[in-house]
Amino acid sequence: MTSPHARARVVCRAVPVALVSGANRGIGRETARQLAGLGYDVIVAARDEAKAREAAQAVGGRPLQLDVSDPASIERAAGAVRDDPGALDVLVNNAGIGSDFGVAGAEPDFDAIQAALDTNFFGAYRLTIALLPLLRESEHARVVNVSSGMGGVAEMGGWSPGYRISKAALNAMTRILSTELEDAGVKVNSACPGFVKTDMGGQFGAEKPVEEGAAGIVWLATLPDDGPTGGFFRDGKPVAF
Ligand SMILES: NC(=O)c1ccc[n+]([C@@H]2O[C@H](COP(=O)([O-])OP(=O)(O)OC[C@H]3O[C@@H](n4cnc5c(N)ncnc54)[C@H](OP(=O)(O)O)[C@@H]3O)[C@@H](O)[C@H]2O)c1
Repeated sequence: MTSPHARARVVCRAVPVALVSGANRGIGRETARQLAGLGYDVIVAARDEAKAREAAQAVGGRPLQLDVSDPASIERAAGAVRDDPGALDVLVNNAGIGSDFGVAGAEPDFDAIQAALDTNFFGAYRLTIALLPLLRESEHARVVNVSSGMGGVAEMGGWSPGYRISKAALNAMTRILSTELEDAGVKVNSACPGFVKTDMGGQFGAEKPVEEGAAGIVWLATLPDDGPTGGFFRDGKPVAF
């Protein structure tokens, strides 16, 4: 239940607050930049403190040290957000790694699969739960899980088992939390940015500009109250889970 104090904070706050994980480079940085341009108070989270500071200054946000694979770092970061700005309207779970691209599922590297799960799934899940009390206080809370078409089970192919399984698990988290939080007005969706020219996608020849990859994430982060929840979208269009 929202405390009267918290409710007063919601009513008084003019600027919505967004947190983007892994925001020092790539799609996360561009998502933070676009949200800041829309007037959000953007928390630019990165595991390297100096990189968080540099990116925050560049995009017009505030820095936060956050390693999503470290539960203690998540707790510290959530505590810092509770202290200042003491509110959160948008969470973009963007931080991600590809630890076993091209590795055969029939010849798995279980350490690499564990690493993918620790960052891409447990990191996003733990961070969402740590920040959920603040999100529940928002009147328009939005969670965007940056997933991948490679995590869609319906059309899943072979290779890269850790990456695929971690994103499939993230998509399951989207479905579970969107269902449970619907009545609270917290919208939870998965986004596939497409094949984007970042450090991750560029090594495989991706050409989609980062601005376009981030735009579909920003759309989900800024959905109106009658927008979808529990969906999986690329460029604003549904993708098979
Ligand atoms: N690019 C594509 O084609 C594509 C396609 C589908 C989905 N995606 C997804 O989009 C998201 C962003 O990808 P990208 O292309 O921008 O990749 P990227 O350029 O490799 O950037 C990844 C970001 O995640 C951060 N990160 C990794 N592990 C972290 C951790 N433990 N804690 C905090 N931050 C961490 C990195 O920080 P450091 O600088 O410290 O490493 C970096 O900021 C990922 O979730 C990825 O799976 C990308």
